[in-house]
Amino acid sequence: MALKLAVLVSGSGSNLQSIIDRIEDGSLDAEIRLVLSNKPDAYGLTRAEKHGLPTVALDHTAYASREDFDAAMVQKINASGAEVVVLAGFMRLLTPVFIDAFATIVNIHPALLPSFAGCHGQRDAAGYGVKISGATVHFVDEIMDHGPVIIQAAVPVLSGEDGDSLGARILEFEHRIYPQALQWLAQGRISLKDRHVLLAEAGIPKAALCAHGLVNPPLEDGF
Ligand code: GAR
Repeated sequence: MALKLAVLVSGSGSNLQSIIDRIEDGSLDAEIRLVLSNKPDAYGLTRAEKHGLPTVALDHTAYASREDFDAAMVQKINASGAEVVVLAGFMRLLTPVFIDAFATIVNIHPALLPSFAGCHGQRDAAGYGVKISGATVHFVDEIMDHGPVIIQAAVPVLSGEDGDSLGARILEFEHRIYPQALQWLAQGRISLKDRHVLLAEAGIPKAALCAHGLVNPPLEDGF
């Protein structure tokens, strides 16, 4: 049965687009019940509308507290019937009102967590001078950018590269690893042992080494 998703965006929504594309090409067994944004002008909402998906804009500035805003989001997501919350460039800190309301919340972060948590993972990694950065898909817990890691892609930092350039190359991997992680969830192949995410094997994975980085666990056909 298709995984019912609520996708939360604050900006461009290119990760949302990658999820839509994988659903439409049949490689991701999911349906998007709701696309929600805290920014009424987020391009991610326009992307969703182009694909006929239900959207909601809740302007966080209209709420008295973070908790009030989170409660409003919880109400909308529950009403949509979504079972998994997908943070895709959603740039608001979440309170326990939200975290405790859902069994499964996942996030994508543009760095190799636990390094460079926060709002500027790409810029911070480039600025620090690391040689390898990347992207992480993880479960969300009560601490920002902290929950158990599902999949990571490592991306080499090029000499003299700034955060924008690095971020663009990381984004290409984000668009592959996020739908892949969601497909593993849809297949019921993910389990947790302490904070270790275990993936049940299915078939023979593609080579772990790609042209521009390393993805672990390896991507499978279609991603
Ligand atoms: C992505 O790079 C995502 O990893 C990042 O925001 C971007 C959203 O792009 N998220 C964070 O930095 C969360 N801390 P998109 O709107 O094109 O998907």
